[in-house]
Order: sequence, then C-alpha cells, then structure tokens
Amino acid sequence: MKVLVYGNGGREHALAWKLSKSKLVKQLFFVNPNPLMEPLGQTISASSFEELAGKSKAMGISLAIVGPEAPLVKGIADILESYGVATFGPHKAKAWLESSKAQAKEFNFRNDIPCANSVTVDDFEDAKKVISEFKSPYVLKSDGLTGGKGVSIVENFDDALNEIQSMLEGKFGDASRRIVIEEFLKGEELSVLCLYDGETLLPMDFSRDHKKLMDNNKGPNTGGMGAYSPVMLTGKQRESIFEVLDKISKALKKEGIKYHGVLYVGMMITEEGAKVLEYNVRFGDPETQTLMVRLKNDFGEIVNATMKGCLKDIKLEWGEPSNTLVIASKGYPFSPAKGVEIAGINEAREVTNVIIFGSAIVRKNGKLVSNGGRVLNVVATGKYAHKRALKFAELLKFDAKFYRTDVEERYL
Ligand code: AMP
Ligand code: GLY
Repeated sequence: MKVLVYGNGGREHALAWKLSKSKLVKQLFFVNPNPLMEPLGQTISASSFEELAGKSKAMGISLAIVGPEAPLVKGIADILESYGVATFGPHKAKAWLESSKAQAKEFNFRNDIPCANSVTVDDFEDAKKVISEFKSPYVLKSDGLTGGKGVSIVENFDDALNEIQSMLEGKFGDASRRIVIEEFLKGEELSVLCLYDGETLLPMDFSRDHKKLMDNNKGPNTGGMGAYSPVMLTGKQRESIFEVLDKISKALKKEGIKYHGVLYVGMMITEEGAKVLEYNVRFGDPETQTLMVRLKNDFGEIVNATMKGCLKDIKLEWGEPSNTLVIASKGYPFSPAKGVEIAGINEAREVTNVIIFGSAIVRKNGKLVSNGGRVLNVVATGKYAHKRALKFAELLKFDAKFYRTDVEERYL
C-alpha cells in the first residue's frame, strides 16, 4: 500500500522509519518532511487539506497517518476520508478528548474514571472563589490546544491569581479563555499509548516522558525532553493502570466515541493508584520514537488491523529497552535559537550506535540548521542506552544544543 505520513517532526520520522520496514508498505509520502526523514519517501506539496486529499487520491495513496493534533482538530481526517483516503486519526467531531481539557474532565467524572478533582472557570471572580478551595501548588490548565505548554503549576496564591488573570485574558489565545483549576497530584507520570479501532483499546508498552525542561524536573513544561520504555512498575501499580484503562474502554463504548487511531492516556501513578492527567487522540512525541524502535511487529500490519477493527487479534511484541533524548535549541520553549548549524550527526551516530530522528531541523544553503525548539531525537536501545544517547549529544556539533541528562530508568 501507499501511505501518507502527515507531520514532519521526530514522531512522524519514527513512524515513517518503522513503516519503511513493513512488508505491506510499497511507498511512503510526506508533506514538507524534515531533511532527515525526506529520503524515506516522496514529497507531496499541498497548501490545503483539500489539495492534499485530491493529490493523495490521484497518486493511489490508500492510507494516511496523521501525527499532530492540530490538523486532526481542524478536520484533516474528515477531508481525506471524503476523498476515499482512509485516515488513522479521528474526525474533527471526535477529537474533543484532546482539544478540550474541560470536556475531557467531564468525560472522566461522568464515567467514574479516576482523575484529579477540578473545576472549570471562564470568569476571574469565579476563579478567585474556586481557587481558595484548592491547596497549593495550584494546577492551572488552558482548556484548548497549546502544544503542551498551557499548564502552569504555581506555589503561591497571589502568583496563581495573576496567572489565572493572564490566562483568561488570552495568554494562550482562545485556548486559555476557559481554564481548568485542578488538584495537584503527587506521583510519577506514565504515558499509555493505546491503539484504538473503535472497539478494542490495545495498550502499547508503557513509556515515560519528561515534560519539564531541565534535570530533576525543574523549569517550565515543554512538549517533552526525553522518554524511555519500558517503565518499571509494581504489580499493584500495573493492576491499577489496567483498571483505569478498562473504565476508559467501557466509557468510550457507552458514549459511542469511535475512531481508528491512537488514544494516548497520560497518567499520574499516585499512592492511591493510577489517575488520568490528560488524553491525546494521536501518538505522543517523543514516546513514539522510543516505542517504534522497540516494536517487533510489522507496523504496517498493526495499522491495518487498527483501520479494519481487528485489534483484538493482535499481540504486540517488544524488544530491548530504549532511551530517547531530545536535543533542543537554547531558548526553548520560549524563543529557541534558529538557523544555528548542526554538524557531525553521522560521525557521532556511528560512534554511539544510535538512531536519529529529525524534528525542528531544515537544510539551508546545503547545511543543516535548527528551525525551532526540539531539533533532534537520539534513540538508543539495549545496553548502556542512556549513556550512548548522552555520548551522542556530547559529540554533536551544534553550538545551541541543550538537553536533559537524567532521562533514565534507574531500576533497569
Ligand atoms: P497535561 O497537558 O494535562 O498532561 O499537563 C502537562 C503536565 O503538567 C503533565 O505532564 C504533568 O507533568 C503536569 N500536571 C498536569 N496536571 C497535573 C496535576 N493535577 N498534578 C500534578 N501535575 C500535573
Ligand atoms: N509527549 C507528550 C505529548 O505528546 O503530548
């Protein structure tokens, strides 16, 4: 089959890399790929979803996999499917589990799915009353999409009020004109990416993202600075995670929320058990990078089973542990240095035996340069994975490089 992978970051590069090894995939297509993923497929130029759908159909593309959330929320799946291109990812009307944190919380409350207590507000005076009922630290979440940057955790009451005011006044545009004020949950985070075919919710092996910018979980939230998989958990923790997934699966059925793609459940593993932090209706970044290198199954077959509603017949198999390090550009997540040259990728890769996925990187006058915050993903598997990923980062010639050094499963 001919497959379009939509999106051009590390997640999509990893999906394309894995699909390129599938015996079912004849050819891959991309829109505006990063220069490191470009050789894996053919580029289609399109300036609208309609144009892309028309060209995809004409080129015989039978399947599209959409990486990022924004195009799904804007309805890319609706348009591609109206042209006969089956799409991995929900239609616009089914994307609210990710696009509205307030609605996602209502879904949890209606269905008795464990999560933090919360109240949704859109008025400053109401927010003031609500927040006095909560204890520090105060968790303030923009309702809409913010690329992972719209959550603030604030210790001081007055700072929280200031933050609420600035959010309601549009700090994140319309996304923060409504906010969720939430109880702070203590614990360790877990990413549970599930394939979903409308009936079966099939969890992939667990991974752990690191959302804070700096070591020891300091600094602002980011889109993700690194991940590893598997995650060491006790039997009791695993049991509680599966109980939550079972409740989610039943709730999806009860509410008739059906689509073909991924339901990513972000969890906090607390002393009382697993609780849901958020839902995404697509693959996670950088969790996907760390999972694709471990997945032993033919990914084309998995995607086909997801599209055809046959996930109940699939058994996922996983290889050695993996470790993913995000090389960011200094200034991220606020104003990353752009246009800074990146050299020595191949040399450093050969020494350290790692896989590199490109992200915010472009070619300019024949040279690779940074073009945003998260520039490269270094993925190592097997023995000394974390050390080898760090060694790569050290050897890489990139003056603006910035990365975390503590993204490691210490119990392995
Ligand atoms: P979210 O986009 O809802 O996953 O939030 C982004 C990040 O904020 C999460 O990955 C957590 O690190 C943190 N976070 C969100 N909600 C809470 C909470 N209720 N308690 C503690 N940390 C949270
Ligand atoms: N790694 C977090 C996300 O993809 O939303």
